[in-house]
Amino acid sequence: MSQNQSSKIAPAEGKLGVLIPGMGAVSTTLIAGVEAIKRGISAPIGSVTQMGTIRLGKRTDNNTPRIKDFAPLAKLDEISFGCWDIYEDNAYQAAVHAGVLDKSTLEQVREPLEAIKPMSAVFDNEYVKRIDGPNKKPKGSKRDHAEMLMEDIRQFKEKSGASRLSMIWCGSTEVFHRPAAVHATLKDFECGLQKSDPEISPSQIYAYAALKMGVPYANGAPHLCVDAPALVELAKERQVPISGKDFKTGQTLIKTILAPGLKSRMLGMSGWFSTNILGNRDGEVLDDPGSFKSKEESKLSALEYILQPELYPELYKDLYHKVRINYYPPRGDAKEGWDNIDIFGWMGYPMQIKVDFLCRDSILAAPLVLDLVLFMDLAQRAGMRGIQEWLSFYFKAPMTAPGLYPEHDLFIQLMKMKNTLRWMMGEELITHLGMEYYD
Ligand SMILES: NC(=O)c1ccc[n+]([C@@H]2O[C@H](COP(=O)([O-])OP(=O)(O)OC[C@H]3O[C@@H](n4cnc5c(N)ncnc54)[C@H](O)[C@@H]3O)[C@@H](O)[C@H]2O)c1
Repeated sequence: MSQNQSSKIAPAEGKLGVLIPGMGAVSTTLIAGVEAIKRGISAPIGSVTQMGTIRLGKRTDNNTPRIKDFAPLAKLDEISFGCWDIYEDNAYQAAVHAGVLDKSTLEQVREPLEAIKPMSAVFDNEYVKRIDGPNKKPKGSKRDHAEMLMEDIRQFKEKSGASRLSMIWCGSTEVFHRPAAVHATLKDFECGLQKSDPEISPSQIYAYAALKMGVPYANGAPHLCVDAPALVELAKERQVPISGKDFKTGQTLIKTILAPGLKSRMLGMSGWFSTNILGNRDGEVLDDPGSFKSKEESKLSALEYILQPELYPELYKDLYHKVRINYYPPRGDAKEGWDNIDIFGWMGYPMQIKVDFLCRDSILAAPLVLDLVLFMDLAQRAGMRGIQEWLSFYFKAPMTAPGLYPEHDLFIQLMKMKNTLRWMMGEELITHLGMEYYD
């Protein structure tokens, strides 16, 4: 660690262009929120970059600035948005359709939202089955599509006057795929683009275009994207940060808050049954078994890693974990997530915990998207490249370096994130080790 690390971070000069494939509920809630905050009619609740603080030095130093005043992040009024979608609606119309924010709030930011018109999408019905729309790129090979996206990026940069860019996937969840031969190396992947290999998904074409252009890429959905060796290789080659995957909101957020607490007290667990009802477009896409499989894999992994049954077989080896998602249109974006947790305590006596979280998916996701694009831009300016594990805090299925297990415990993730910021800024790391016992 170097005390001069912070001097290596390039300043956040000029505008930050935020590029988003998918202009649905999450993206429009983010954009409307940022515009409302800029106008002083809303507060950035849920955003760690905007509201969170970071303690520096000893507790007695009383030095706890806000993260946004500590790290050189882009300011909200220096952000401009560019999106792609298969539908032609502008961001105002898409926000009305999403039905997350009420009409009166949307009216106040109508003008900037109406100005955002989606660029035509690279889309493939084999990867997202339940929806289709007219705003798509003309036919061509996957390589042609990557080139078209790179041209979109160039034009957006020029028109918006952005000096830096950060891309984040907020498009629909694609069908579950495992890494294939075409994902093994960058060379294989580039050959695959040329031949329009069916194993290359639209989201991977966006990611490829971003990385080729030196733009950081974060994946907010659970499907396979930059977590393929070929794209990790490209990120390293181009010195670009990547992160993913699947925003940690709703039920999994609650899971990663509760499970570490129960485990820390060495309470056993025999079952965790999670079920959801949701009625937005995301729910409709997830009604397709292929897309649900991507989500299920991502949602299931957290508990296993937190509880470590291999270290605590008496407590967790027989855990039965089940996750269900049910598309139920009347609820729209207002999801309901039920959890039944069967735990056991002293002498094996059973107990139950019931959680009924009446949450709002996009309200929980929007601040994560904001934090991620700001932190990814910071990482880029700090010269960090490849997988950004310190951003695991935001993801249900955090990407890790090969061979390492992901950290799912929200509180360890937060500590790691804050210590990374301290390290970046040349501050002492905080280990919570009290040396006063030896004074
Ligand atoms: N809201 C949450 O709490 C949450 C949590 C974790 C992950 N996610 C993920 O975030 C993503 C967005 O969620 P949402 O609720 O906004 O969904 P949404 O359905 O409202 O929006 C997704 C948009 O992506 C567009 N799209 C699909 N494929 C595209 C492509 N190839 N190119 C461009 N646009 C494309 C769709 O037309 C749609 O408008 C989903 O993948 C979802 O699973 C959301």
